[in-house]
Formats: sequence, structure tokens, C-alpha cells
Amino acid sequence: RARIAILISGRGSNMVSLIEAAQAPDYPAEIVLVASNRPDAPGLARAAQAGLATVTVDHRAFSDRAAFERALDAALREHGAELLVLAGFMRVLTPWFVEAWAGRMLNIHPSLLPLFRGTHTHAQALAAGVRVHGCTVHFVVPELDAGPIVAQAAVPVLPGDDEDALSARVLVQEHRIYPAALALVASGQARLDGGRVVFSEGSGAAEGAL
Ligand code: GAR
Repeated sequence: RARIAILISGRGSNMVSLIEAAQAPDYPAEIVLVASNRPDAPGLARAAQAGLATVTVDHRAFSDRAAFERALDAALREHGAELLVLAGFMRVLTPWFVEAWAGRMLNIHPSLLPLFRGTHTHAQALAAGVRVHGCTVHFVVPELDAGPIVAQAAVPVLPGDDEDALSARVLVQEHRIYPAALALVASGQARLDGGRVVFSEGSGAAEGAL
């Protein structure tokens, strides 16, 4: 089983969906660490409750981004992490960190990329007037919210939707596709090759299962 570290900054609902998925005996990944850059992230308590190791690397304690990332990287390696999963981790990572974990770091973004990068994606979707919105799991590359895509799910935008209603509808899909996408990557059924995601036969991708 691949050794996973989950990186969070807040609530950690995606983290919980990954923790629950990893409890299945045939899941190809085990969570060895939950790391937060914020000591007050509610997800930390939920991880500890699940019996997982947690660490806080508070970005405010470091003079610059590089020093913060070196400390974070050291903590992740200390716990033997092989794959990193960003789950509501709200720090931009430098090319140094991204290259160090190239092909081994996933992120979930609450839009159908390449639409609506950055923050406030549900407000962006409502402002654009799209009728379909969703979420994306992708490998992390230095450019923000631009990495090769492993999985996506779409939801309708309904008349009368506000940000809360739309984000709740998307979140249900996030909790479904993130564990599935991580399983593909952890088992080697989806891998980064020359800047593209290559899916192996039987991965479900060819059947549109994800
Ligand atoms: C999720 O909707 C995730 O897609 C988003 O933050 C939320 C975290 O919720 N991530 C980003 O916007 C990354 N730029 P959670 O802490 O309950 O998983």
C-alpha cells in the first residue's frame, strides 16, 4: 500500500472521505500523516480522532516560503510519505517543492478545470452563467491549477443557486472522485508520463467510470 500524506488548511471534509476510503482492506493506499499549515485547522482534530499522525508546520513561523517548504518537506519524508494529497491546502507551492514531488502530488480543485482557476470558483461559475460546474483531481505542476487531469465530475447549475448551494452540490462529487482518483494513482493505474496522465487498461477510465 502506497504511503500517503494529506495536506490540509481547514475543515478537512475531503480528508475524511480519503480516510474512510483507506479503511477498506483492498484500498491501495494508507494514510501515514495529515499535515496542516494552520494550527487551528478543524481537520487536524478529525484526523487525530481517526487515530492518524498529525503535524502542523505553521507557515507564519518561517521567514519565507522556501524555509516553510523545507520544513514541510522534512516532516513528510520523516513519516515516509510516498504520495502527497492536497485537500483544501491553501498555500501556493514553489517550483522547488512541486519538482521534488513531481508525479507524486495530487490536488482537488472545485471547478471543471481549465475553467475557474484560483479562489471563489463557485462565485466565478455563477458569474459566468455556466449551466454545468464541478470538480477536478489533477497532478500538481508549478503553474497554479494547471496540472494534468486524473478525474472530473460535473454537476448542474440550477436556477436560484447561490454559492452555498452550488458548493455543497460540488462537494458531494469531490468526496466521490478524490478517493477513486487516489486509488488509481496509488495503484499505478494512472501515472504521469511526459506531462500527460496515462491510464492503464482496467482502470475504469476507458469505461468513463471516473
Ligand atoms: C474543497 O472544496 C476543495 O476543492 C477546495 O477547498 C475545499 C476544502 O474543503 N480546494 C481549493 O480551493 C484548492 N485551491 P475541505 O477542507 O472540507 O476538504
